[in-house]
Amino acid sequence: MIEAQLTVDRDFEIAALDRRLFGVFVEHLGRCVYTGIYEPDHPTADADGFRQDVTELTRELGATLVRYPGGNFMSGYDWEDGVGPKDQRPTRLDLAWFSTETNQVGTNEFMAWCERVGMTPMFGVNLGTRGADEARQYLEYCNHPGGTTRSELRRSHGVDAPHAIKLWCLGNEMDGPWQICRKTPDEYGRLALETGKLMRMVDPTIELAACGSSAYDMPSYGVWEDRVLEHCFDVVDYLSLHSYFVKPTSDTSTESFLAQIESNARYIEATVAVADAVAARRHSAKRIMLSFDEWNVWYRARPGEHMKQEGWPQAPRLLEEVYNVEDALLIGGMLTMMINHADRVKVACLAQLVNVIGPIMTTPGGPAWRQTIFHPFALTARHAHGTVLRPVIRSPGWIDPKQGELPYLCASVVHDAASGRTAIFALNRHLSEEMDLTVTLRGLGLTQELVEAQQLQHADLQACNSEAEPDKVTPVPLSGIVIDGDQLRVRLHPASWNVIVMKATSP
Ligand code: AHR
Repeated sequence: MIEAQLTVDRDFEIAALDRRLFGVFVEHLGRCVYTGIYEPDHPTADADGFRQDVTELTRELGATLVRYPGGNFMSGYDWEDGVGPKDQRPTRLDLAWFSTETNQVGTNEFMAWCERVGMTPMFGVNLGTRGADEARQYLEYCNHPGGTTRSELRRSHGVDAPHAIKLWCLGNEMDGPWQICRKTPDEYGRLALETGKLMRMVDPTIELAACGSSAYDMPSYGVWEDRVLEHCFDVVDYLSLHSYFVKPTSDTSTESFLAQIESNARYIEATVAVADAVAARRHSAKRIMLSFDEWNVWYRARPGEHMKQEGWPQAPRLLEEVYNVEDALLIGGMLTMMINHADRVKVACLAQLVNVIGPIMTTPGGPAWRQTIFHPFALTARHAHGTVLRPVIRSPGWIDPKQGELPYLCASVVHDAASGRTAIFALNRHLSEEMDLTVTLRGLGLTQELVEAQQLQHADLQACNSEAEPDKVTPVPLSGIVIDGDQLRVRLHPASWNVIVMKATSP
């Protein structure tokens, strides 16, 4: 048994939580779109061909935002291919994933689905094979009310009101050697500046995200961010971060795997430092915010070098990572860490939504089910509302060879003044010891009552959900919580992720 304390105080706020932190990602890749969200022949398909079982699970997941249409796909995408009558749309080679793209889903179908689910769109423009001119035309098609050729084209496609897409990515991972038409930081920085400038002329209400490095361990990380922002600082609002967590060898311990929470915290803090250094050089009060627009566990289902595969298949099984309990613990811990960086991380997208490194899996013509990582995401998205409070954590820990001394407890606390509710998210990273946790909620009401408490844990850290056993790993009630005024005590299971929701009963 280990003991830990978590204390927050109403007056010690980090920031208001931006609910866009609970975003996901849908790319034209593998079976994410085709036989993922869209399958016209499926028994649950709606009139537009979208699988209603997947729509329902997406709603249950609580995703607030969705990034589209890629990813690497975006760098070769011609948006014109995906609008207008479906039977006249071209079939293209997708060089990003060596697949055939039928364009049966495009901007208007996707937006209709996105609105039905209730998610905010985050669209991207192709800064690989195309550039500023295409981007301003695409934005005019999407967001201009009418009276111009491109806005009238949209209206002729049956979409009378503008889509009003507010958030746009200026390309994707433009530093990556795998990217279609990779750029140097100076080439990309200039292009992002000029593209952003034109896009803002078309619609001054939009927000823009520039590409950061495609990973923290890219050799050019830091230099890339600095050079890119040197060019486009004035025109962009966000800088992107991408992170895929790995377990490098079968001997890698679960503790080291879970220590990636801290390396990603450092990634965020280092990126803020670089962005603020650019601001400092310009004597600028502007602060660039972060868009962590691709993040997840991804190491088992990695395609070979250059993503190459034979035969240009349609909707092949690509990146179909099957997640276990260990992965779910890391996802839960990452969410607590990102919440604790809510002052600078304003947007985040779990990559991706369905089949392709996704929390939802489907069988073509068959069922859809929740992967293990679905659960911490859904519970956090459901309960994290309001203001993030600064957590003071006292916990025993261990020495990780790469990250140094780390606490077993990872936690975040979010308070919603409107409802009086406080949500506590806590990960016990001790793999064999229970944790006696005392939580003190100062200034949030003299007495508290329990609203809900759930835990995610399983005797087998390698356990997965599957079509045959869709609920093998699922949250269960967390009991035994003792409340004493503004304090609560609870015993957390070893290797468990937990959520406890409290409500003040007296001010
Ligand atoms: O999410 C899968 C791929 O990972 C995306 O297309 C790309 O942006 C990243 O490298």
